This record gives sequence, structure tokens and C-alpha cells, in this order.
Amino acid sequence: MVLYFSGTGNCLAIARRLAEHCGEQVMSLYDAATTDLTQEKLIGLVYPTYYFNPPKPVLKLVEQLRISPSAYVFIVIPCGAQTGNAIWAVERILRRKGIKVAYCHKVRVPDCSAIGFGRNPNEQKWKFEKFAQRVEQIEYDIAMRRHIHHFGAWGVAGWLCALPFVERKTLPLLQPAVNPEKCIGCGTCVSVCPQANIKLVAACHEPVSSNGQTAHVALIGNDCAQCLSCVHFCPHQAVQIASNTTLKAFQYHHPNVKLKDMIRRVE
Ligand SMILES: Cc1cc2nc3c(=O)[nH]c(=O)nc-3n(C[C@H](O)[C@H](O)[C@H](O)COP(=O)(O)O)c2cc1C
Repeated sequence: MVLYFSGTGNCLAIARRLAEHCGEQVMSLYDAATTDLTQEKLIGLVYPTYYFNPPKPVLKLVEQLRISPSAYVFIVIPCGAQTGNAIWAVERILRRKGIKVAYCHKVRVPDCSAIGFGRNPNEQKWKFEKFAQRVEQIEYDIAMRRHIHHFGAWGVAGWLCALPFVERKTLPLLQPAVNPEKCIGCGTCVSVCPQANIKLVAACHEPVSSNGQTAHVALIGNDCAQCLSCVHFCPHQAVQIASNTTLKAFQYHHPNVKLKDMIRRVE
């Protein structure tokens, strides 16, 4: 079983490829946290790097996983540049649970954060070319059940960014917010938010729409993972980061992943 956490589809696309190659299924980490996986002989974890760390929900979800200590466990991390602490942090949690990670590696992908996303087609081109080679190598390694740890380099920038006070300063820079003037209450962001942290509320700027119904706008709650799926999938570019207008040309998601793939499963 290959488990993933994904906001803009890079992790889902990689998880699907690796799963297909080893004849396994993919499952969202949210579903995996409530599933008994102790019979699985192979467990893959594919999640992004956020601020040189794993996304906060990933840490909680991995704590809850029920997997067998005899399973072959691998971690693959897509990142814009550097993984920093992203592999170690999850490896530590698994080790405490008596589970050994057999293999880990990183894959550089077009970055979905505000700094890099979709801005530079050349960057996307070379990253996707390298991406293909790296994923092929990982597929091979996993099929051979190899035991290799590529933790990725740290670098000064990664070390600094993982410091708690730097994180506190940088978190607000990538905090999504809804522009009520552009939001038409279509609910796309509500359905793609993996944390179920967005809801539709009655709009206060224009209470009644042209067909006489109450107009709604999206409201983001306090449990944001900053995966930015709401920013990148909004069909009206109504979710923006740090008051910067979102342009259609800057929206990014992995080309093999569609909106329907990102919709959160509702019980
Ligand atoms: C809030 C945020 C922080 C990020 N921080 C880092 C980082 O520290 N290092 C890095 O290499 N990439 C970073 N990225 C880029 C993501 O790791 C990368 O875009 C990843 O592929 C996203 O996966 P997804 O498409 O499955 O959501 C960050 C992205 C976001 C949204």
C-alpha cells in the first residue's frame, strides 16, 4: 500500500506510479490512519516538504498508523529544493513504533509554494525531465527491495528554516485567504481541502444573488496545513496568499492529476 499526503498532486502522482510499479494500491494518509494495515507487506509514504519539515498533519497521521514491523517501508519526498528534516522526522516516529524504514529518497518537482509555482516553464521542464529519471530509479530500487537511505543534504538555509522562530515568521507568508470579492461560493476549495478546514458561509457583502438565493463565500478555518490546494484549484483565483492576487498562469498542479482526484473522501 502506498500512502500519500498531497495538496497539488505531486505526491499523489508519484505515489500512483510507485504503487502501479509494485502492483500495490494508493491510499490517502487520512484514510490510512483509521485502517488496519498490519497485513500489508509493503508500505510506502509519499508526502511533501513544508518549511524543511513534514507537513504538520503528516506527523499526527503517521503516529496513528497501524503497520507491521516486518513490512518493507519506504519514504519518498517530493520537494522544490531541499528536504531538510522531512524524512528524519517521520523516520523517528516510525522507529519509536518499532518500525524500520528500509528506503528513502527525494524527488525534485515544480514547487507549489508562492515562491516558485508555475512561474518558470523552463524550471518545470528540467525538473520533470529529472523527475522521470529519479522516479524510474526509485521504482527499480523498491522493486528490488533495496535498503538505501538518501536523506538529502541539509544546507544552512534548511537548518535555519527548520528553527521554530523562523517558522513562526515564515508561516504567515504562505497562509491562504479568500478574497470575498472574487469568491462565488462554488465550494471547490471546500472539497479539496484535506483538513476539511474550509466552509461556505453567507456572504456579507452581497447577501442575495441574482436568483434570489443567499450568496455564499468560502471561509478558511484555523486548521490549515498550508498545502495550497485551495489556492491552486480555485477556478476563480479567489484564494490568495499574503494578499497577492492569484493569477491563473501561476496556478499549478501536477499534470497527471485532475481536480476530481484531489476531492476529499467524505464518510
Ligand atoms: C507551505 C509550503 C512550504 C514548502 N516548503 C518547502 C521546503 O522547505 N523545501 C522544499 O524543497 N520545498 C518546499 N515546498 C514545496 C513542496 O514540497 C512541493 O511543491 C511538493 O511537491 C508539494 O507536493 P504536492 O504537490 O503533493 O502537494 C513547500 C511548499 C509549500 C506549499
